[in-house]
Amino acid sequence: MPRVSAAFFAVAAVCLLLGMAWGMQMGGSEDFTMMPAHAHLNLLGWVTLALYGTFYALTANTMSPRLAWINFALSTIGTALMIAFLALFLPARDASYIPGMVAGEVASVLGLLVFGVAVAKELLRPRLRATGAG
Ligand code: HEM
Repeated sequence: MPRVSAAFFAVAAVCLLLGMAWGMQMGGSEDFTMMPAHAHLNLLGWVTLALYGTFYALTANTMSPRLAWINFALSTIGTALMIAFLALFLPARDASYIPGMVAGEVASVLGLLVFGVAVAKELLRPRLRATGAG
């Protein structure tokens, strides 16, 4: 497995650990104020980052490590910013935290666009018929 995939999985596992702990705390306290932050930490942090890591593991021999690391940097920073500012925003719906959330959202979307470029390169790269590689 390429190091970038292991890095994606490492951050994803930390997100899942925090997301589960947050869910248990919510359930235990019956205070669901933070539910959107819990849901996004799990879905952006665990599911999405793990899917990126899986793609680069499946394309280990043909992917661009540079694109993959840019994807990693944008997507992990985006997730961290978005969850942190969402958690600050939710208790009082304080609008002063919205720019921080937007910064995280923009970084996350840029990460996805870089991923899209990596997927397009994989889709369009020339393949040798003789290898049976499809
Ligand atoms: C130990 C693990 C987890 C615990 C204890 C937990 C706990 C909770 C609780 C208490 C809620 C609020 C439920 C409600 O009032 O409707 C919730 C909502 C949610 N959780 Fe988790 N959760 C866990 C793991 C996950 C994971 C792994 C994901 C996604 C990959 C996830 C995604 C969501 C989503 C999307 C919602 C919002 C559901 C809605 O809007 O009705 N959770 N969770």
